[in-house]
Amino acid sequence: MATERGGRDSESDAPMTANDRYEAHLERSRAVWDRWSDWYGMSERDFEPIREAAIDRLDLQPGDRVLEVGCGPGVNFERLRGEIGPKGELVAVDYSPRMLENARERIETHGWENVELRHTDAARAAFDEPFDAAIATLSLSVMPDVRRTVENVFRSLHSGARFAVVDVRPAPSGPARVLNPLVRRFLRWYANWNPDGDVVDALATVFDECEVVDTHMAGISYTVVCEKRDAG
Ligand SMILES: C[S@@+](CC[C@H](N)C(=O)[O-])C[C@H]1O[C@@H](n2cnc3c(N)ncnc32)[C@H](O)[C@@H]1O
Repeated sequence: MATERGGRDSESDAPMTANDRYEAHLERSRAVWDRWSDWYGMSERDFEPIREAAIDRLDLQPGDRVLEVGCGPGVNFERLRGEIGPKGELVAVDYSPRMLENARERIETHGWENVELRHTDAARAAFDEPFDAAIATLSLSVMPDVRRTVENVFRSLHSGARFAVVDVRPAPSGPARVLNPLVRRFLRWYANWNPDGDVVDALATVFDECEVVDTHMAGISYTVVCEKRDAG
């Protein structure tokens, strides 16, 4: 279905429903991330120390089963797999087929047998078994419904499991806020960033415990670690 930004279906001129907007955002994300997939390697190391610190916060153990949400080309795989070892399991989901092709190449190059890729919308993915931990780096904020995605991750975790999230947003306070109109525009153009999705708020609402453990670049980049408490 062809759609316009203004909230109307460009073919029928009918107002777009919430579901139409969801599907339109998802399709734009697929197109944007398919397009960037050829170039992503040039910048994938930019967040390396931040990613590594987030993975450390998961306190992974050999044999753990881990979910990666919006894995892109698999930038985090080596480190995650290093923590869970050959007996652990990493299930990584992404909606861009071309990002997943790059992730598959990485898996084949390393000969990893316990990294599974799924082409799916992270908000709608269903899993047979719960995970011991989950991670999303630079991905939640580009999804069409952040809250729904976080709820799905929550459902997919064991009690006691952690979810580490690295993401970006306009500067929350301080003089850097003057740059926010530019930051918003850039993120929307570059990443199909979702201006209606407040990642920190969604995490705090859905999870029992959440803490912003790290911020960088005047708070534009942040790491949140959440925990799903033991039932009872
Ligand atoms: C900025 S990239 C981040 C990739 C990787 N996590 C990293 O840290 O480099 C965002 C990724 O989220 C994926 N994505 C966007 N919307 C998605 C959705 N609804 N479900 C699953 N993946 C999605 C994109 O295809 C893209 O690969």
